[in-house]
Parts: sequence; structure tokens; C-alpha cells
Amino acid sequence: MSMKTLGISASPRINGNSDLLLRQALAGAESAKAQVEYIRLCDLNIAPCAECSFCHKAGRCRVEDDYQMLSKKMLDTDRLIFATPIFFMTVCAQAKILIDRCQCLWAQKYVLKKPVIETAGRDRRAMVIAVGGTKSKKMFDSIRLTMKYFLDVLEIHYTANLFINGIDALGQIKKHPAAMKEAFRLGRELITVITPPPTEPINVELT
Ligand SMILES: Cc1cc2nc3c(=O)[nH]c(=O)nc-3n(C[C@H](O)[C@H](O)[C@H](O)COP(=O)(O)O)c2cc1C
Repeated sequence: MSMKTLGISASPRINGNSDLLLRQALAGAESAKAQVEYIRLCDLNIAPCAECSFCHKAGRCRVEDDYQMLSKKMLDTDRLIFATPIFFMTVCAQAKILIDRCQCLWAQKYVLKKPVIETAGRDRRAMVIAVGGTKSKKMFDSIRLTMKYFLDVLEIHYTANLFINGIDALGQIKKHPAAMKEAFRLGRELITVITPPPTEPINVELT
């Protein structure tokens, strides 16, 4: 059976750099016969976490919007590819809103001690794509930690990173063939390499 692969694009820009890399990665996954779905967060209506603590008792979010649909897809998928631009040294707001809404999964798991998904026998893996405009050395420090905790609540293995710096203008990534090639390769490998996943994410950083 083909592997479900969900691509989530957080960039507010249509054809943004991280979005173009995501689509390359999804093309790579598709080339390995994955069943691919692409979602742009800007097309959805997801409100920020209201910090009402309803989920600490109910194990679900009280706010009903597109989060429920997306959360179901994230928990159901075999492979997740999450792409974001770097804004102020971390993920963009659209990505952070989604991540914060996953607090209800955190509550389910760590407060109510209930399983988030039926993990038995499932090999779920995720890859993160991030693009920043400058060449700041610490640019990807924050995103690594945020993604570690986000992917932990989703109970999906953090398998790979593709981080590109020094890319700022809209569509500039198209002039970086090595990055486009790596996105395709990593997307394909996310499907084809089924040896036990690495303990630490594979890290590809390009300038
Ligand atoms: C609000 C905002 C904040 C940004 N913050 C950073 C930053 O902290 N570091 C950096 O290197 N680039 C920063 N950038 C530049 C973007 O990361 C860069 O333009 C990137 O290519 C955007 O990716 P996208 O086209 O996928 O949206 C920022 C851009 C915006 C609009």
C-alpha cells in the first residue's frame, strides 16, 4: 500500500522559498509512489490557542475550526513534511499557531496519560524544511527545539532537516539547484529508506 505523505506549507507567500522546496520534496515522495497531499496553512482558518485549559480535562480543543481536520490528517499520515520560513529566528506565525493548538495533544498525552494515536506497529516519520534570508549562525537553533517538541506530541519520528540560509527574495530558491535537488532526494528517501530511523535527525544545511 502506498504511504500517505502530508506536506504542510506555513509560508504566507504563494510560491515562497520554503513552499517551493516542500513541493520538490513531495515530488520526491511521489516518485517513490507515496500518496501525497499538500496543504497551505494560509488557506485554512486556525485560531491561536486560547490557553483556556479545556483540553487538560477534555483531552480535546474547545475551539472548533480547521484545526480538527488538520490534526486528524497529521495523526493519520505515515510521513509528514513541514515547511516554514524563518521569522525572527524561529517558525513563522502561521506555523506557531498550528503548533500551539497541538497543546490539546500534549494534554491528552502528558496530563490525561491517554494515547494520542494507535502507534503499535506504525513507522511514522517527519522531515522539516526551513529557509532563512540571512546567514546567521544560530538561525536554526530555535526551530530544532520547537520541532522536536511538536513532533513528539504528534508521535511522529523526527527524521530529517533541510535548512537553507541566505535565501530571501521570492522564488530565489529556484536559482539554488543543489537545494532543490536535496529537497527531492530527502523527500524520496523519507519513503524509500525504511531501515530504523536515526536517533538524531539527518541534518542537511546549505548556503
Ligand atoms: C517577518 C519576517 C521575519 C524574518 N526573520 C528572519 C530572521 O530572523 N532571520 C533570517 O535569516 N531571515 C528572516 N526573514 C527572511 C525570510 O526568512 C526569508 O525571506 C525566507 O526566504 C522566506 O521564506 P518563504 O519565501 O518560504 O516565506 C524574515 C522575513 C520576514 C517577513
